[in-house]
Amino acid sequence: MHLMDPGEPRAHSGEKPFLLLTGVTGFVGSVLLGELLQRGHRCVTLIRHPGKNRDRLLGLLSDRGVAAEHLLGSGRLVILGGSLPDELPRSLPHPVGAVVHVAGSTRFNPDPTGDPCRTNDDGTLRLLRWMDLHAITAIHHVSTAYIFGDSPEHAPEAVPDTPPPFRNAYERSKWRGERHVWRWGRRPGRTATVYRPSIVVGDWRTGYTTQFSGPYIAFAALDKMRRTDLHRPDQPLRIAAGRDADLNFIPVDYLAELMASIIEQPESHGLVYNLVHPEPIPTSTLFEIAGRIFGVRCVHHEKPGADGPAPMTPGERRFLATTRHLNPYLSRPHRFERTNTSHIEQRIARSCPRWDEPAIGRLIEFARRRHWGRKP
Ligand SMILES: NC(=O)c1ccc[n+]([C@@H]2O[C@H](COP(=O)([O-])OP(=O)(O)OC[C@H]3O[C@@H](n4cnc5c(N)ncnc54)[C@H](OP(=O)(O)O)[C@@H]3O)[C@@H](O)[C@H]2O)c1
Repeated sequence: MHLMDPGEPRAHSGEKPFLLLTGVTGFVGSVLLGELLQRGHRCVTLIRHPGKNRDRLLGLLSDRGVAAEHLLGSGRLVILGGSLPDELPRSLPHPVGAVVHVAGSTRFNPDPTGDPCRTNDDGTLRLLRWMDLHAITAIHHVSTAYIFGDSPEHAPEAVPDTPPPFRNAYERSKWRGERHVWRWGRRPGRTATVYRPSIVVGDWRTGYTTQFSGPYIAFAALDKMRRTDLHRPDQPLRIAAGRDADLNFIPVDYLAELMASIIEQPESHGLVYNLVHPEPIPTSTLFEIAGRIFGVRCVHHEKPGADGPAPMTPGERRFLATTRHLNPYLSRPHRFERTNTSHIEQRIARSCPRWDEPAIGRLIEFARRRHWGRKP
C-alpha cells in the first residue's frame, strides 16, 4: 500500500489530480494552459524565474480570457519555479496525475548554453527521472512534426529508432527528446503520449500569437520590402520553391483544443499524434495571397537566377537571406500520416480549418499590429 505523507494534500474526491505543465510562458504552453483551466482542470506550472515571470504568465492568461488571479487565490492554479535540466522542485504541493511537457528550445542552431540540446534532450531526460522520483506515471510530450528532417518518406505516427536525416540541431534534439519519452513510456505502469505539431501560428479567429517565427518571418520581410526601394512595382518578386512545395501550419487554438481533448480521454493516451494540417497550403498560393495583402507581386519560381538569363534582384536576394532557415520547410512537400489525429477529430467533431485569404489576412493583421514581435 502506498502511504501518503500526512502533510501532503489530497485531491478532493471526484476531482482529477492536478496536471503539471512546463513551458507555459511560451506561445503553445500559455494557450494550452488557458484551454485546460477553462475546462476546469487544476494545474501546477513550472516556470523559470517565477519572481520575474509570474506577471507575464498572468498577462498571457488574461489575453486568453482567463482570470488567473482568481484561480491562484482558489488554489486551482499553482506557480512553481523550475528550469531544465537543472532546477526542478524537491516537493510538490499537490498530487500530480500527469506532466504536460511543452517547454522547449526552438533555436535551430546551437547556442553557447548548449541549447537546443540542453533543454530538449538533456532537459526531457531529467524531467522523466524527476517524474520517477515523484511517482508520476504519465506524460504528454510536445515534439514536432519535423523530427523526420529531410526524409522524403511519409512521416508515420510512430517513433523512429534510427536517426532520420536532420536539417538542424533543433530537429535532432526534438527527436532525442521524443525517443527518451517513448522509451520511458514502454516501461510497465507508464504512459507516454506524443504530440507532433507542424508549424504553429495564431488563433484562427483573431490571429492572436506571441510567436513570430515560421511564416511570420516571410510576411515581415514582405512588409518591410514594400516600404523600401527594394520593391520595384514593375518587377515581381520570384519566390524559389519546388513545384509541389507547401507549408504546413496549424492555428494554435485548434492545437490546444485537440491536445486538451486527448489529455481528457485516457483511451487516447499512449499514441503519437501528427497534429498537422490535412491540406497544407501550396507555397505558391501562400505567397500569392501574402503578396496581394502587402501589395508586392509574388510569383513562384523553381530557382530564380540560377537557371536563366535573369539574375536575382536585390529584393530577391534580401528576401532569400531573411527567410533562409525557413526554406527547407517551404521548398518541398512534407507528407504525414494522420490516422490517430483524424480519429480524435472525428470523436470531438473538430477539424483543422482551411487556410484562405481572410484567415491569412487575420494572421498578418494581428502580427502587424504587434510589430512582428519587436518593440515599436
Ligand atoms: N511554435 C511552433 O511552431 C512549434 C511547432 C512544433 C513544435 N513546437 C514545440 O512546442 C513547444 C513550445 O513551443 P513554443 O512555440 O511555445 O515556444 P516558445 O514560445 O519559445 O516557448 C518555449 C517555452 O519553453 C520554456 N523553456 C525554454 N527553455 C527552457 C528550459 N531550459 N527550462 C524550462 N523552460 C524552458 C520557455 O520559458 P521562458 O519563457 O522562460 O523562455 C517557454 O515557456 C516546444 O517544445 C517546441 O519544440 C513548437
